[in-house]
Amino acid sequence: MLAYYEAWEQHTSEDAWASSWWEMSSAAGDHLARILGGQPGSVQIQPNASIGLSSVASCFDFSSGSRNKIVTTALDFPSMQYIWDAQQRAGAAIEIVHSDDGITVATEEIVDAIDETTCVVALSHVSFRSSFRVDVEAIVERAHRYDALVLLDVYQSAGAMELKAREWEVDFLIGGTIKWLCGGPACGYLYVRPELQGSLEPRLTGWVAHAAPFDFAGPPMHYDRSVRRFAQGTPSIPALYSVLPGLKIIEEVGVHTVREESERRTEWMIDFALEQGWKLNSPRDIDQRGGSVMIYVDDGPAMVQRLAERKVFVDCRPGVGLRMSPHFFNTDEEVKEAMEILAELI
Ligand SMILES: Cc1ncc(COP(=O)(O)O)c(C=O)c1O
Repeated sequence: MLAYYEAWEQHTSEDAWASSWWEMSSAAGDHLARILGGQPGSVQIQPNASIGLSSVASCFDFSSGSRNKIVTTALDFPSMQYIWDAQQRAGAAIEIVHSDDGITVATEEIVDAIDETTCVVALSHVSFRSSFRVDVEAIVERAHRYDALVLLDVYQSAGAMELKAREWEVDFLIGGTIKWLCGGPACGYLYVRPELQGSLEPRLTGWVAHAAPFDFAGPPMHYDRSVRRFAQGTPSIPALYSVLPGLKIIEEVGVHTVREESERRTEWMIDFALEQGWKLNSPRDIDQRGGSVMIYVDDGPAMVQRLAERKVFVDCRPGVGLRMSPHFFNTDEEVKEAMEILAELI
């Protein structure tokens, strides 16, 4: 952020746009592409994940033809639900696959909801609510068999585990940088499968998406051929300064290492929690789980506060209790100490 401040201070004598700012967005996009398992030129920075999703939604005309169904799940983030819900006004039909236990969603039920009327299957890779992780391959396989597209919200998994955008052949990924990617706020991203990019023309657009933005030409819009066609207006430069170092650190540490550390620690945390007789609100099976562990407590916000007083920093979500998310920079000792403090407080 100090580097931003300096560039801003020098701005009149040295045009920061010409020297670096214009390139920052695609540089951040390419860092993200590597972290997501995609190739360079597959990620466009967005103001936040909600805009990334809205950009995708604006690519479709739900009112023409019969392919207007969106399949989502009950464990998705509210933005996902609000944005698709709003598309009903434009002719979309939404099918929300339910969760029996509030923790998991059956893959068979997601797969069964996909048919020849499905336009997009849009769901969280890892749920913010329970840390439940969906079976990506099974969903992509079924969706593509019916010519439907798949969008994964990877906000809760990117930077915490290996993602394989290219290998999975997933069509879209959305997310943001303030969680496992260790970045500042106000920076989202949208991955679009390279082979798909050229066929999409988002109605949520702006001058930066134009093939020749500095011609300032009148309409009609000529979308750029690159992933920049999914941009809107001026990139949020301070946000990019706040995310690039985190992305570099995550790449340096490596998502494979991050996940290995996470698996050891979260398995230990869960064993500890179950020994204490606490209610686990995340899947027990490591192959169905992201990097967070949800543990039920009666008054989540009060417990978050009491833990913070003891320098244990977690958050909570309504109905599920505490959300504990050890990252690579924690130590095993810290994680053990955190759980012992929680036991003391409970
Ligand atoms: C899974 C998930 N999706 C989306 C969001 C919202 O992202 P944004 O605020 O960037 O729109 C969050 C934020 O907490 C999230 O956890």
